[in-house]
Amino acid sequence: MVYIDMVKLFETDRLIVRNFEAGDAKDLFEYVSDAEVTKFLTFPTYKNIKQAHERIQFLHDKIYTKKEIGKDHDFAVAEKNSKKIIGSIGFSRWEKYGKDTSIAELGYIINPKYCGKGYASEMVRGMLEYIGKNKLIKRVEAKHDPDNPASGKVMLKAGMKYCRTDFGTMTNNINENTDAVVYYWCKRKFSSKKPKS
Ligand SMILES: CC(C)(COP(=O)(O)OP(=O)(O)OC[C@H]1O[C@@H](n2cnc3c(N)ncnc32)[C@H](O)[C@@H]1OP(=O)(O)O)[C@@H](O)C(=O)NCCC(=O)NCCS
Repeated sequence: MVYIDMVKLFETDRLIVRNFEAGDAKDLFEYVSDAEVTKFLTFPTYKNIKQAHERIQFLHDKIYTKKEIGKDHDFAVAEKNSKKIIGSIGFSRWEKYGKDTSIAELGYIINPKYCGKGYASEMVRGMLEYIGKNKLIKRVEAKHDPDNPASGKVMLKAGMKYCRTDFGTMTNNINENTDAVVYYWCKRKFSSKKPKS
């Protein structure tokens, strides 16, 4: 088990990635209540701020208590200068297979008022560096709807590589079936050695 600093995960030049706190509900609600932001995501657009409070409460009650990163782990992304929460980054899947193999699926959001400044690429790069440095997981995957090419650009800029396109494997938040363009990052290449017989 790998324990992490559960309050601040890491920082980059312009951003701090940390646990969500109760006082972040207003900033979180600002972007998850925007249907243009959530249309490529899996959860419904938030209708009221109570949902943001409940999500943060859930993270504190069920996720941050685990003391280990895993599935459904969401972190707040704060702009260092303003201290405002301008986005989220987290994992929808975190799986271990046997002793030496593990895969996590990364997702992220930036408040549209702060898009186009390179923040998403900076936070994804920071997350991959953090995971690599702390040997948390071997392989990270991320996927995007082909109609959301900016997200694929973020993955490339952060150092991920194109892997494959899975046709018809995603469902967006208005229940439409879409293709998934999958990118990956690997701490080290998987061994190509044949197992001893
Ligand atoms: C996708 C998203 C994370 C991008 O955030 P961001 O902070 O603007 O991203 P960055 O500034 O780091 O980089 C975006 C890159 O995409 C490029 N881009 C923007 N629109 C594009 C488009 N339609 N086609 C191709 N590239 C595009 C930008 O030019 C930029 O590349 P550049 O720096 O080389 O010019 C943000 O728009 C978002 O949160 N969207 C809603 C949620 C979402 O889609 N999350 C990802 C789910 S897979």
